[in-house]
Amino acid sequence: MGMGKLIVGNWKMNGLVVDSRERAMQLVIAVKNQKPASFQMVLCPPATMIGSIAPLLKDSGVYLGGQDCHAQSSGAFTGDVSAAMLKDLECSYVILGHSERRALHNESSETVLAKAKAAHAAGLRAIICVGESESERMSGQAAKVISDQLKASIPASATPDNTVIAYEPVWAIGTGKTASAQDIQEMHALIRQQLAQQVIKGEKMPILYGGSVKASNASEILHIAHVDGVLVGGASLKADEFLAIAQASAAK
Ligand code: PGA
Repeated sequence: MGMGKLIVGNWKMNGLVVDSRERAMQLVIAVKNQKPASFQMVLCPPATMIGSIAPLLKDSGVYLGGQDCHAQSSGAFTGDVSAAMLKDLECSYVILGHSERRALHNESSETVLAKAKAAHAAGLRAIICVGESESERMSGQAAKVISDQLKASIPASATPDNTVIAYEPVWAIGTGKTASAQDIQEMHALIRQQLAQQVIKGEKMPILYGGSVKASNASEILHIAHVDGVLVGGASLKADEFLAIAQASAAK
């Protein structure tokens, strides 16, 4: 799927239809005018807005994703959304195992794995998130935590075509603190190494960094070895800022 850095906007639970359509439109127009070769953009709006944003993105080169899906394809799961439902609204991607889901909805890596299988079965590309907490990093556990999450969250059906990994240190999400370039490079290299062993063609699976990415630090982060893109929360809610992040993917 495409060349260049993968720039994913996770809008989380923000916005309403009118302003979200407006933001999506601004991005579509900017991307259309530039015909970027250096990035591919993905927007992940709240589930309620996907249907009204999808027509705006048609043939725009900007892709659509969900923020979560259920592991089952249908049934008595009040309030949940299936992978097939996201696909039905023209989503190509789904974020799975975001740290907010893991922490606030008690999602285990086993749950994330089941959801990733469902995403693959529905034809979605899963963005599987992993990340260590601050205390895990302080106590020297970061590499082990990430390795365990990768082992337990990625299904055997994963390939570079249907799966992307997002490394998001929990302490860097929404805090304004980013990991240092060296920390990012080290962790991405470890992840790359493990993927190569764990997954078919795993050495080619894209690895995103997430956690307080903004226009001012995007260029540095996007040019670190083994960083194939970014997963952006807060800064993806402003079209100008998100576009500037995407543009930072161009060669320095
Ligand atoms: P942030 O969120 O960019 O607001 O830190 C990133 C994420 O949670 O994906």
